[in-house]
Amino acid sequence: MEIPPHLVDILRKARRVAVLTGAGVSAESGVPTFRDTLTGLWSQYRPEDLATPQAFLKDPRKVWEWYASRRERLSLAQPNPGHLALAEMEGHLPGFTLITQNVDGLHWRAGSRNVIELHGNLARVKCFQEGTVVEQWLDDGTIPPRCPSCGGMLRPDVVWFGEKLPPEALQHATRASQECQVFFSIGTSGVVEPAASLPYWASERGAVIVEVNPEHTPLTPHADFALHAPAGEALPILVKRTWGL
Ligand code: OAD
Repeated sequence: MEIPPHLVDILRKARRVAVLTGAGVSAESGVPTFRDTLTGLWSQYRPEDLATPQAFLKDPRKVWEWYASRRERLSLAQPNPGHLALAEMEGHLPGFTLITQNVDGLHWRAGSRNVIELHGNLARVKCFQEGTVVEQWLDDGTIPPRCPSCGGMLRPDVVWFGEKLPPEALQHATRASQECQVFFSIGTSGVVEPAASLPYWASERGAVIVEVNPEHTPLTPHADFALHAPAGEALPILVKRTWGL
């Protein structure tokens, strides 16, 4: 695929870049997205049955086991060339912030370091009562397992619908979006707030908006550059064209 030469020039001159990723960047690692027709998780399950505090209270075993099955599937996934290209991009830029909606930890495993996990991380577990992260618990077959300190139910440390995002993560993400010169929106349908507003915060402050997504999204008409290609294909070419090694 062709990378617009003007985008290459802009990136070479850029000092501060912010990137927002969604499930699409992990699609080529075999991790299902949410809203892709047929293959998306929300086309097979109802989010309100699995990804809300009410769903968990109604059927904690079902919710715990669904997340455990996603964790299991994730253990087989590897970072793909899209993740790796973003990790390389970070090394070429004095200011680089990777804001992800994904809970799969693949950016960290690919080598990205300045990562903001807006929606938490599937590998972490916390107490439903106290909200504290729990590293170890008694595995006596009770599902969901219980908090060692208060006996409350344990839950995945991910943001559910209707819940607030981790305030610090959101603050850092908003600031990075407002201070960057180039903002990438990669592999996200851009329909879930407040993440979906970040590119608009960036654009309002004069940032160049680049979207990488095979499909059209609500952001596409507002993007300065729209690369209609899979992230695993477009990003390595973009990094090579810009900082070619
Ligand atoms: P979605 O499933 O809504 O959107 C995935 C996007 O990735 C779509 O626009 C696809 O076109 C695109 N896509 C698919 N394959 C791609 C590829 N190889 N390269 C690039 N793009 C590709 O997932 P998100 O936008 O991440 O939150 O969803 C946002 C949030 O909604 C998630 O964090 C999750 C979900 O419910 C919670 O559960 C709280």
